[in-house]
Amino acid sequence: MKITKKIKLQIGMLLLGLGLLTACDSSQPPKVATTGGGPVPAEFQTGETTFNANCSACHGKQAAGTDHGPPLVHKIYEPNHHGDPAFQRAAADGVKAHHWEFGNMPKIAAVTPADVDQIVKYVRWLQRQAGIQ
Ligand code: HEC
Repeated sequence: MKITKKIKLQIGMLLLGLGLLTACDSSQPPKVATTGGGPVPAEFQTGETTFNANCSACHGKQAAGTDHGPPLVHKIYEPNHHGDPAFQRAAADGVKAHHWEFGNMPKIAAVTPADVDQIVKYVRWLQRQAGIQ
């Protein structure tokens, strides 16, 4: 009797473990930007233009990443992990490589804080489209 109970418990733990594993896994795959093919809403178009002129060379079209820089439409840049001030700091001071192996990001002198505000709005919109919030 005792043994059966023990086995049942172990199977229970195993199933729980598997359940947790699957739960974690489903949040793992890096999300890629999809705007669903639709046009960028008017309110984000200034941000898009500024982003394309100053950031997309490294961060890619629709912030999907290139071989010079990471995607910003990615779980690690969701608002709770990299809030809006992280974007202002990145543009004003540059970024020392710490999450990726693309090297450092230089400061982007051509953009003003107001430009970065517009860029953040655009990137947050892309993130929401990809289910990252
Ligand atoms: C020359 C390439 C390059 C350009 C241009 C560039 N970035 Fe980056 N950026 C990078 C790289 C590389 C990283 C990743 C550093 C790391 O964490 O390893 C990065 C990281 C970031 C981060 C994350 C900062 C953090 O705290 O981890 C933000 C936000 C960001 N970039 C925003 C921008 C914005 C906005 C622009 C345009 C105004 C821009 N980048 C232009 C290369 C670039």
